[in-house]
Amino acid sequence: MEQLIKQIEDYKQEINNYVAANADDAETFRIKYLGTKGLVKSVMGEMKNVPADQKKEFGQLLNDFKLFTEAKYEELKETTDNGKANTENTIDISLPADTLPLGSRHPISLVRNRIVSIFQRLGFAVAEGPEIEDDWHNFTALNLPENHPARDMQDTFYINQNPDWLLRTHTSSVQVREMEKGKLPIRIICPGRVYRNETISARAHCFFHQVEGLYIAENVSFADLKQTLYFFVQEMFGESVKVRFRPSYFPFTEPSAEMDISCLICGGKGCNVCKHTGWVEILGCGMVHPNLLENCGIDSNKYTGFAFGMGVERITMLKYQIKDLRLFSENDLRFLKQFTSAV
Ligand code: PHE
Repeated sequence: MEQLIKQIEDYKQEINNYVAANADDAETFRIKYLGTKGLVKSVMGEMKNVPADQKKEFGQLLNDFKLFTEAKYEELKETTDNGKANTENTIDISLPADTLPLGSRHPISLVRNRIVSIFQRLGFAVAEGPEIEDDWHNFTALNLPENHPARDMQDTFYINQNPDWLLRTHTSSVQVREMEKGKLPIRIICPGRVYRNETISARAHCFFHQVEGLYIAENVSFADLKQTLYFFVQEMFGESVKVRFRPSYFPFTEPSAEMDISCLICGGKGCNVCKHTGWVEILGCGMVHPNLLENCGIDSNKYTGFAFGMGVERITMLKYQIKDLRLFSENDLRFLKQFTSAV
């Protein structure tokens, strides 16, 4: 029996030192030790030769040997199976995480935020109002009474439920709401979405975004208007950009002007974008018409003010040289992904 004990010890040593480089090696181990003609079986066969009084002791010894060999096989399988057996139940927390796709701000938002921050530095506060407006705030209070021909310039969408309701055509309606509050002086900018009944093309859409501004106090003059807008243009487009004002007409301002900047593409020499004039229009402006002040309960003998309004799409198109307005609302990621940083 001593011999058998010695034999088992040797096998254990051998098993312990067994190394498997791959799944085939592990299988060879199984056949050699645990197979039907394997070593464990043949050692078990020795039981019949063990005297009865030693059977218990040897039974234990042989069983331990079997368990030892099986455990080694499990270990070999696990390390050679390319972790296959492993993955179902465990999570490898050391793996780098899947990267989440990061969105970016819409170019219209980037440019709107930039416009807003420039005016905020001049002391303008942001004011907002409803996109569904009533006739008074969008037209009548702004010196555009019913049947006024200038209403045609801003045809909009009306709401069946109430013919007095409409989608605002400009954020000047927010200016009216602020003036009606009667707290002076007023120095606000009004960013927001506006609507017009226009055929969709590369240059027009049924909705777009505006930033309008209003400053009302004592002794506000056209010089203040010019200086404010001049500052804005320099901050937005750089110091080399030139500015010019052309007389224009708006029912809510008198005098009124449109402001052009020298073409950013050709530097003023003339190209397709500026239609060979060297200038591109960027906004409308003027001194607030006294009728507006009176409509909103402000003494027009004491107070004066200026107002201006610009389309954010237009500024964005100039800033990034985008030729088609429709790109802004098509949600094509190939387009949108290009605007990741602030302007
Ligand atoms: N409300 C005008 C528009 O939408 C822009 C504007 C605002 C013009 C203020 C003059 C003064 O076209």
